Amino acid sequence: MTANTRYTIRVALIVALGGFLMGFDASVISGVVSFIGPEFDLTNIQVGWAVASLTLTSTLAMMMSGPVSDRYGRKPVLKAAALLFTISAVASAIAPDYLTLVAARMLGGFGVGAALIIAPMYIAEIAPADVRGRMVSFNQLNIVIGISVAYFSNYLILSLGQSDLSWAQSLRLGDWNWRWMLGVEALPAIFYFFALFSVPESPRWLVMRGKAEGALAILSRVSGKAQAESDLEAVQESLVVEANQEKGTLKELFLPAMRLVLTIGIVIAILQQITGINSVFFYAPMIFEQSGIGTDAAFMQAVLVGIINLVATIVAIMLIDRLGRRPLMISGLVIIATSMLLLAYSFGSAEQGPSGELINMNPTLILIGILGFVAGFGISLGPVMWVLFSELFPNRIRGIAISFCGLINCSVSFVVQLVFPWELENFGPSMTFLIYGSFAIIGLIIGTRILPETKGRSLEELQVELVSKK
Ligand code: BGC
Repeated sequence: MTANTRYTIRVALIVALGGFLMGFDASVISGVVSFIGPEFDLTNIQVGWAVASLTLTSTLAMMMSGPVSDRYGRKPVLKAAALLFTISAVASAIAPDYLTLVAARMLGGFGVGAALIIAPMYIAEIAPADVRGRMVSFNQLNIVIGISVAYFSNYLILSLGQSDLSWAQSLRLGDWNWRWMLGVEALPAIFYFFALFSVPESPRWLVMRGKAEGALAILSRVSGKAQAESDLEAVQESLVVEANQEKGTLKELFLPAMRLVLTIGIVIAILQQITGINSVFFYAPMIFEQSGIGTDAAFMQAVLVGIINLVATIVAIMLIDRLGRRPLMISGLVIIATSMLLLAYSFGSAEQGPSGELINMNPTLILIGILGFVAGFGISLGPVMWVLFSELFPNRIRGIAISFCGLINCSVSFVVQLVFPWELENFGPSMTFLIYGSFAIIGLIIGTRILPETKGRSLEELQVELVSKK
């Protein structure tokens, strides 16, 4: 491995910690809800709000952080996100009442939204073309690790709190279990904040701000002097071409030349969520319990979901720059659709018990269906969406464009999570999974027609091809 590659990997790994914090922050609440309900005497709606409020502010942050980062740079926005994660973790850990807790969670939501889109964008802007897909996927990998670590950390705090270890008792891990679950996030968040001082500003952003020399120095460390000079020239040329067009505003995103890339961006933003990933993530134990295997086994199987997601994401990282984005996306969607049909069939073949509950299902088939779905997602929609988002749009409006697509992604996620329990009750699990499966099939048909292959090309080459092609 050359010194250049080592440097770039180090930078990408540090920046991608934003993904870890995002995954941790979003899922840590799953372990908290059962304790805050009784402690603050909450209604179901209030509990729901404690969970969903974060997605609301992260949607807002997605809208804002792209344009803000176009203006002030990518790095300041990431640092702000790190601070928000830290403050939110500490404030929610010591919250004296429910409202403070929700306010603190909402503050963290701003960090989630910002990290979710700025981290992958930054990495795409600094990475050499031939490994860009892999490096941007570090971010998704970190999201997935963050989700799993939060589950594990919740479990650990809970068990230590129940133990009679004297240090655990003096830290009051038992009485304050949910406070510790939320508070521990401050440690990685503070680490992230300080580690960000050691990464440079995005070279492509520097060029946009007329700081070509600084950009050249960074690009040289990333891919050597000769390559850096030709990259810099390409970035500058693309900016000259863009400067002759209208200003980089939201309006420009809707110009006819942008139609193809915007359509692709919106389609995958919707598809990533509408096929139900967060229903499975946030309600996995509940789904497994419906298959009739009992609570403990259900929690065990939920852990498997996290592991499979992690393994699939690693497979995607290994293949994305070799096979390309399209084959991963298409095979992943085929696996998702098949798994959903399997789930619809398995739940559909259940019988009704005496009080209307579903009985006599095949829990193994259901487990295979869920794990298949998560594996399909992990090699395709999970990582590839972020890679494509960071590649499709021209330099000058990348920030705005990713914000816009992220906003759509987040809103669809919010709605899907919200209606899932309602769907289960009114349509039943079989129909619900059939709906997800149909969306996957529709996505497969549209995707096969419109998805471009972007592997190994520079962002500027892609711009010429995708944006002028209309
Ligand atoms: C999605 C999240 C999802 C996660 C699961 C991300 O790419 O945006 O909504 O929870 O993947 O791995």
